[in-house]
Amino acid sequence: MRQPAEIDEVEHDQSLQRASAAVRQVWNITPRVAVVLGSGLGGVADRIDVEAVLDFDELPGLATTTAPGHCGRLVCGRWAGVPVAAFQGRLHLYEGHQLSDAAAPARLAHALGAETLVVLSAAGGLHPRLRPGDVMLIEDHIDLMFAGPMAGRREETPRRRAWRRSPYDGKLGEIVATAARREGFDLARGVYVGVLGPNYETRAEYRMLRRIGGDAVGMSTVPEVVVAAEAGMRVLGLCAITNSGLPDAPQKTSAHDVLTVAEATEQRLGVLVRALVESLSGVNGHG
Ligand code: HPA
Repeated sequence: MRQPAEIDEVEHDQSLQRASAAVRQVWNITPRVAVVLGSGLGGVADRIDVEAVLDFDELPGLATTTAPGHCGRLVCGRWAGVPVAAFQGRLHLYEGHQLSDAAAPARLAHALGAETLVVLSAAGGLHPRLRPGDVMLIEDHIDLMFAGPMAGRREETPRRRAWRRSPYDGKLGEIVATAARREGFDLARGVYVGVLGPNYETRAEYRMLRRIGGDAVGMSTVPEVVVAAEAGMRVLGLCAITNSGLPDAPQKTSAHDVLTVAEATEQRLGVLVRALVESLSGVNGHG
């Protein structure tokens, strides 16, 4: 007899097949890169030469987003000549979605044939040197969303052991770090802590998250990254630091401030993602 978790997986696979068929009907191209755009960052997709747009409710398996700053569309087209699929809007656990819903964009990206997933998000800064408006390259994460079980209890293989050590691709990180230096802006690096939300943290929680090794905290990213890494995709994670989570210099954080500050980082995030996309097209000699 099939176990409930397996049934979930089978149902998920079927909706995924239907979602990828729906995309193929309007855009029969394999994306090289998929981008998941977080709170206030949907405008990064404006740089894409759009060839097709699908609403999430046309895509079986992708629930409708309700969070402010998330419009719920898949934008397909070319960026620097490279086929790209961008998910504008994310599904959060705090909206009542399951982990598998939050990870659905990564599954669909993989089903469409994308080899690389770029995950952009808004986050609170825990490291004392991070300021609102900074951009941070995610080098590693702490999974307080408990997304790990989505990767399944499959047998350990060398690939699985490797991504569990670090799901973020160091080479992609270096490409964007080089681009930031070339453009003359600072790119911080650090550890992202994924939490459930929906509330921003108490001072005691920010202190704890810093002590356990976090540099930034947010309510997304980890589910998509776990699923993409498990599927063998290369992952780049970047976050916009939208507010400071310093327990001894407390500041009130509102969803509105988070969106406004995130929007102010869009231009730099756009430069970084473009550099990555260009590296895949062979411009700049990265091959
Ligand atoms: N905490 C959690 N998630 C967030 C924050 C924060 O301070 N800022 C933006 N997303």
